[in-house]
Amino acid sequence: MNTLFTPLSAGRLALSNRIVMAPMTRARADDDGRPLPITATYYAQRASAGLIISEGVFPEPMGKGYVRTPGLADAAQVAAWKPVTAAVHAAGGRIVAQLMHVGRISHPSLLPGGATPVAPSAVQAAGAVYTDAGMLPHPVPEALSAEGIAAVIAGYAAAARRAVEAGFDGVELHAASGYLPMQFLSTGSNQRTDGYGGSAANRARFTVEALQAIAGAIGADRVGIKLSPEMAFNDITDADPMQTCTTLVESIAPLGLAYLHVAPAARAAEYHRELRTRFGGTYIAGAGFDGTSAAAIVAAGGADAVAFGQLFIANPDLPQRLRTGLPLASADPATFYAGGEKGYIDYPATATVA
Ligand SMILES: Cc1cc2nc3c(=O)[nH]c(=O)nc-3n(C[C@H](O)[C@H](O)[C@H](O)COP(=O)(O)O)c2cc1C
Repeated sequence: MNTLFTPLSAGRLALSNRIVMAPMTRARADDDGRPLPITATYYAQRASAGLIISEGVFPEPMGKGYVRTPGLADAAQVAAWKPVTAAVHAAGGRIVAQLMHVGRISHPSLLPGGATPVAPSAVQAAGAVYTDAGMLPHPVPEALSAEGIAAVIAGYAAAARRAVEAGFDGVELHAASGYLPMQFLSTGSNQRTDGYGGSAANRARFTVEALQAIAGAIGADRVGIKLSPEMAFNDITDADPMQTCTTLVESIAPLGLAYLHVAPAARAAEYHRELRTRFGGTYIAGAGFDGTSAAAIVAAGGADAVAFGQLFIANPDLPQRLRTGLPLASADPATFYAGGEKGYIDYPATATVA
């Protein structure tokens, strides 16, 4: 029987335990998308995770959706990531970069030359985006042309190459939380009538092609993907999310990816059962786990590993605490995106708690 502390192979990635740090945007980069030295400290503090999945990183300037988020879109950003990945490796950890293109969940003030955000269709998302000028509504996005889709996919592949150059052990495609791949997957945001819209297989095509391109660039065995079925975040709606997800997972199962990471917002047990079976490879379950429920799903063979989000913010030595049954601290939402060291690198490890 596997425990959270049994080592695990996920493609080329060798995990020393099955406790994964979930990807979390922390908005601590500079205005040019470069991570700062405190980010090396933050991730190195958490290097006892079997795998760290980085915060969402924009693969190209048009993929940016939030102030102070980092990129892997140019050489300066690659250079700024190198000390971060080196610090994690020096502390014995593994880290993959989460490639996050937000699509319509952006604003011209965040994009090159004040450009209009892109999406599968010109369907505006309800809601607003935090900008330096305050909260502003998401505009009506521009529908990508076939050439535009090809360029975005090539952009993901180029960013994956830059991730490897920056020292990351692999990449995760962010196909969750209502961002660009999920906008293609979902009926509410995808009204295309070409090969990228309509049937579930067509709506999955963008994500499948993006994964194929990324795998072609760096090797499928260090590429993962995250899905968040039934998550209504960012005004995303789908007529039949179970069918959409099962169709997608059946299409990507033959690619030989390192892992599938699923963080459902509802019907979690059902999604984990259906998607794990169809995927066949290494499966990471996420969203709402504590030490007990994580140990249980791994012991029962319902997942190979478990991703923890908020608990990893507040407990940098989470594996040690779970192993020894020490109490867990809670994260303070006020500092999630606040910038600076507070709520970022000042959560103590238990060894330093009196
Ligand atoms: C502050 C914060 C930022 C997040 N940013 C991202 C992100 O950049 N990419 C992503 O896929 N999920 C993001 N998430 C979602 C987490 O990866 C995770 O799925 C979610 O927190 C549920 O897991 P938990 O209950 O263990 O926290 C974020 C969550 C939090 C709390």
